[in-house]
Amino acid sequence: MRKKIVAGNWKMNKNLAETGELLSNLKAKLGKVSEAEVIVAPTFTNLYRATEELKSSSVKVAAQNMHQAENGAYTGEISADMLKSIDVNTVILGHSERRAYFGETDELLSQKVNTALNHGMTIIFCFGEELQDRKSNNHFAVVESQLKNGLFHIDTSQWKNIILAYEPVWAIGTGETASPEQAQEMHAFIRSTIVKAYNETIANDVSILYGGSVKPNNAEEIFAKPDVDGGLIGGASLDVESFSAIVSAI
Ligand code: PGA
Repeated sequence: MRKKIVAGNWKMNKNLAETGELLSNLKAKLGKVSEAEVIVAPTFTNLYRATEELKSSSVKVAAQNMHQAENGAYTGEISADMLKSIDVNTVILGHSERRAYFGETDELLSQKVNTALNHGMTIIFCFGEELQDRKSNNHFAVVESQLKNGLFHIDTSQWKNIILAYEPVWAIGTGETASPEQAQEMHAFIRSTIVKAYNETIANDVSILYGGSVKPNNAEEIFAKPDVDGGLIGGASLDVESFSAIVSAI
């Protein structure tokens, strides 16, 4: 079902003590304000701490990545079962940093999607074009192919476990935000692409988040667009005041 969602992607930031502090501040701050579903994604070593700390809160915890295999000789990797065993039922897949720095392809992501869905997990599926794609007016084609090749093999019934996050790579961590109109245009395009591949109900029911330099001063106008259901927040999610201001902007 389509919902308003604000998710914080903490990336490789915050040690255990810093994570504990941010979590307890968030819990105190977000207890009342939130109309949106709030999700935070600390790094792997701090996930257990986060699920313990947030047990009595409505804030959910997501992992930033996971491996596609069930288990085995994959040194340094984390499985869906490990995440679920500590009550992490949501995972971010396909973030542009994973695609760019860790070679994650659409094909690999489609396998990760299958594994996460087989475990009943919710996926925040990220995609978005690079600057040269937008400059060459190729951004719609790139987004369409990322969706088709990474995600559109799933069944109609599995869409209830999907949250989409459109994140133009040129807007991530750069201070450069897509304008609310650019975000709306792409989000409407994404829904029309889903209508073609599936149907209207699925297209209307899926939550589509925007990500890329969302800050307290621009969140409200971006979230006001009809096809934008919330945000995936990087830098601004590391500070309790700015993250809760963004959550309140929904
Ligand atoms: P940013 O990151 O808000 O720092 O631009 C967004 C993201 O990478 O999800």
